[in-house]
Amino acid sequence: MRNFILGIVVTILVIVFGGVGLALLGFLPTRANVAPPQIESHIAMSALDNSVERHAPRLNNPVPPTDENLISGLKIYTMNCALCHGDLDRKPSTLEKSFYPPPPTLILHPPDDAEWHLAYVIRNGVRYTGMPAWDKALSDSDIWKVTGFLTRVEKLPPAVQEYWKKTSGVAAPTSSEEGHDHDHK
Ligand code: HEC
Repeated sequence: MRNFILGIVVTILVIVFGGVGLALLGFLPTRANVAPPQIESHIAMSALDNSVERHAPRLNNPVPPTDENLISGLKIYTMNCALCHGDLDRKPSTLEKSFYPPPPTLILHPPDDAEWHLAYVIRNGVRYTGMPAWDKALSDSDIWKVTGFLTRVEKLPPAVQEYWKKTSGVAAPTSSEEGHDHDHK
């Protein structure tokens, strides 16, 4: 029995130190300009979702979704997020394929997560990816404003849709548009 346990401990040590050794010897790939294997995306996405579920406080958005606040959220988005996540012109970001993992196109495929979930991700960023933590760059109310905007990208009130059209020259998306892919993650 003692030998058996010793065997398990030695195996674990070999795996851990072997892994660290391979990394230090330069065997791990570091390129960001390749698509992650599907299995890796799948595991990482579930790990992220479950970690947010475990850690994020269940807060209600304290900023009411008035036209004014949604327009502020839109402006915060275009200034800070559009570069990576796609602009109001509804084209994918030119940087989409330059990150590992790639940033989701939030305008074309708005997230369907709860607001507390999105606000947590925006505030704290996502480790090992290009998603920055915004808690030091944006105020808490700005984080809630951009969260409110993102959860309503396809159901913005008329005044906000009008503002969108005026600033980008492209009509705001609506959930009734044909061929819309709601399952995209
Ligand atoms: C420098 C590029 C970059 C910028 C700027 C950026 N993000 Fe991200 N963001 C990413 C990447 C990369 C991911 C993908 C992380 C992953 O796959 O887990 C991501 C993920 C996210 C997600 C998670 C989506 C999901 O499916 O759960 C949200 C929400 C998000 N970003 C919102 C924002 C907001 C809001 C801003 C602006 C305040 C912003 N991001 C700015 C790169 C960026």
